[in-house]
Amino acid sequence: MRILVIGSGAREHAIARALALDPATSAVVVAPGNPGTATLPGAENAAVDPLDPAAVTALAQRLEADLVVVGPEAPLVAGVADAVRAAGIPVFGPDAAAARLEGSKAFAKDVMAAAAVPTAMAHVCSSLAEVEAALDAFGAPYVVKDDGLAAGKGVVVTDDRAAALAHAASCLEHAQVVVEEYLDGPEVSLFCLSDGETVVPLAPAQDYKRLLDDDAGPNTGGMGAYSPLTWAPAGLTDEVVERVALPAVRELARRGTPFVGLLYCGLALTSRGLRVVEFNARFGDPETQVVLARLRSSLATALHAAATGALASLPPLRWSDEAAVTVVVSAHGYPEAPRKGDPITGVEAAEALDGVHVLHAGTAADDAGRLVTAGGRVLSVVGTGADVAAARAAAYAGVAEIAIDGAHHRTDIAAGR
Ligand code: AMP
Ligand code: GLY
Repeated sequence: MRILVIGSGAREHAIARALALDPATSAVVVAPGNPGTATLPGAENAAVDPLDPAAVTALAQRLEADLVVVGPEAPLVAGVADAVRAAGIPVFGPDAAAARLEGSKAFAKDVMAAAAVPTAMAHVCSSLAEVEAALDAFGAPYVVKDDGLAAGKGVVVTDDRAAALAHAASCLEHAQVVVEEYLDGPEVSLFCLSDGETVVPLAPAQDYKRLLDDDAGPNTGGMGAYSPLTWAPAGLTDEVVERVALPAVRELARRGTPFVGLLYCGLALTSRGLRVVEFNARFGDPETQVVLARLRSSLATALHAAATGALASLPPLRWSDEAAVTVVVSAHGYPEAPRKGDPITGVEAAEALDGVHVLHAGTAADDAGRLVTAGGRVLSVVGTGADVAAARAAAYAGVAEIAIDGAHHRTDIAAGR
């Protein structure tokens, strides 16, 4: 298979790495990619505007791609998958209509209500007066969400009513705002492949969304992750497929907008049972970095089966017994104002360590060809090992080799797991 991967983050680097190692692929092209995917053995980069459906389709045609895998949400919401599919090329990623599951929190709540999927009670508000009434109805801690795409940064969870109102006011400048009941309990990310009808779950993972240790600081796109979840209740995956993923996929099919691609189920295991925190319409970042590090089946075959309505006949996926942990190294100033242009050293030294690989996200080559920061989440350092503790030790040994002025990472990823 010749495969085109759209995107330029560590998630796409992880996808491209798994595809490049997969005997089922003959070519892997990442567009636009990053300096890590450019030097990945068995893969190459191509230039494209990932938000331009016609340009992505033309590139897929020129490459004679057998499959296009869309990494990030913005191209999906912009209709990239619609255009590629209309050209007759299999694509792993939903049409814009189904990607609204991620693109609009209000739409996701409507689908969940129709499909009886357990989630937080919510009010979709269009005015500050409605927001105030909803905040007081639910009480603290307050949960206020931007209705649209916000790269994980549109949610404020706070005990401070004034801060909740201030966030709601800024969201209301451009869209509706969703006020929710607070969900307690640990969070789990479960990725499900969907061909529009059949659902195949991947291995569960856990993400660390807050910037600082002990879950302090603002929400980010994700600062680290690990898999497997040895503490998770037996039967969790089956329960999520039966109560969450399949009902949502069936509801979208019933509405005539089948979901083909990756249904990311963001879950809270609350004291009152399983609840959906959010749906995403694509692989999670950084969870993908640990989930794919453990996948032993052909990723290309699985994604192609999802893209072509053939998941029902896909053989069961096989997983490594090993654990994987990833630690995100972020740039000075992330998430508010990440600084660009800081030199990055130590990537090769980290990769020389046993059980360590480094995935690029916000990196670029400067005029002199040196690797420098170019975005908020700069690198995702992945460690694998016999158990979570060993994988964690490997990941942090890798992080210790990396030097970036003003960089930050959490020190408690997968601690005690
Ligand atoms: P979202 O973009 O909806 O995933 O929200 C980002 C993060 O905010 C989640 O991963 C949670 O950590 C937190 N969060 C979102 N909704 C809730 C909720 N209803 N109760 C508690 N925490 C929440
Ligand atoms: N790690 C959270 C996300 O991908 O949305």
